[in-house]
Amino acid sequence: MEQQFKRNIMITGGAGFIGSHVVRLFVNKYPDYHIINVDKLTYAGNLANLKDIENQPNYTFVKADICDFDTMRQLMEQHHIDGIIHLAAESHVDRSIRDPFTFAHTNVMGTLSLLQAAKTTWEALPEGYEGKRFYHISTDEVYGALELTDPEGIESPFTTKASSEHHHAYGSKFFTEDLKYQPHSPYSASKASSDHFVRAFHDTYGMPTIVTNCSNNYGPYQFPEKLIPLFINNIRHRKPLPVYGEGLNVRDWLYVVDHARAIDLIFHEGKVADTYNIGGFNEWKNIDIVKVLINTTDRLLGRAEGEDMNLITHVTDRKGHDMRYAIDSRKLQRELGWEPSLQFEEGIEKTVRWYLDNQDWLDNVTSGNYQRYYEEMYSKR
Ligand code: NAD
Ligand code: DAU
Repeated sequence: MEQQFKRNIMITGGAGFIGSHVVRLFVNKYPDYHIINVDKLTYAGNLANLKDIENQPNYTFVKADICDFDTMRQLMEQHHIDGIIHLAAESHVDRSIRDPFTFAHTNVMGTLSLLQAAKTTWEALPEGYEGKRFYHISTDEVYGALELTDPEGIESPFTTKASSEHHHAYGSKFFTEDLKYQPHSPYSASKASSDHFVRAFHDTYGMPTIVTNCSNNYGPYQFPEKLIPLFINNIRHRKPLPVYGEGLNVRDWLYVVDHARAIDLIFHEGKVADTYNIGGFNEWKNIDIVKVLINTTDRLLGRAEGEDMNLITHVTDRKGHDMRYAIDSRKLQRELGWEPSLQFEEGIEKTVRWYLDNQDWLDNVTSGNYQRYYEEMYSKR
């Protein structure tokens, strides 16, 4: 059956936040590709994220663990996989601080198992690695942390400026692709390690790999342990907003659909063995984001704008909390012509509206173990 498709692409972690947007984009945009979504369905994986495309003829879901080499090998052969877009991972920094083993297991050993499955499958074919691609999705956190300095940085090069009023840089240094890796958290250490394994498979065996490192994503279907969905949900229910430390840490935010668009472009046109940074030139201090979330949520709920500012609660800081992430994504713009499609204000408005309109989705993912997680993570802060 697979032979009738032009390409057979395995997307790992496709039931998670970013993965579900990538799966949706590929299934809808490429009816002549077979998209095989391989996901273990951990607490972060949710098939409700893909309800709208689950019955498409070019889509297959397989519940499987990337750490299971034999199953990965069998899926590669059975579906004649010629491209892999690898997103499956443990992704939450706070969880990695509590349980680093799980992060090493999934992110390092899982990536290695997938690489080895691809290697043994592709090397056994007459054409070998020709026409194949292993695309690994990574994070800007591998570069470590930048300092807050004067607010002058590189001017945003995008025609769609990240934000109309807000300035976009909190320092003069940015993460570029040639920077040395300096991960600090168990999460970023595990992602750094997996990036090294991917590059090693190119350098040692000639596998056609690509790595991209992206900044903080926001948008629909993000699990509400992460800052933006957690806080929207708490504002709605008038629960305290646990801001770590002073809330002065800076992150560069990108709308998730723009990350998925970049992945599509790089999968098709990126240079083998290369690395691309993906980011929005859109830096915000956490406390300023929180204020935007309160104002927007209040307004959309028909409350007085800013009425819920008193929910802001400063709590014990995250251990080893990285101060500032700032991605320089000019290489991707210059070489492949990518730009974000919308301004941050538009993206946040869409996002808040989506969570308010999809309370069922939130209720579903916050039932069960989520309550226990919330208690454990926040009661002692
Ligand atoms: P997520 O936690 O929302 O989703 C991860 C998905 O991977 C889930 O569906 C989960 O079930 C699946 N998964 C976990 N372990 C698995 C295993 N052993 N086998 C198969 N599936 C497994 O994560 P996300 O935020 O969508 O991030 C996706 C990828 O993008 C990750 O690799 C992450 O490091 C990277 N990334 C995330 C961001 C961000 O802001 N969220 C930014 C840059 C890079
Ligand atoms: O930079 C890319 C990374 O962005 C991805 O690789 C990770 O997978 C993703 O989780 C994200 O990591 P962060 O740690 O930056 O995201 P998080 O939403 O957890 O936190 C954003 C900022 O908000 C961070 O400075 C910590 C702070 N924070 C977070 C939570 C959950 C709070 O102040 N309070 C909170 O309750």
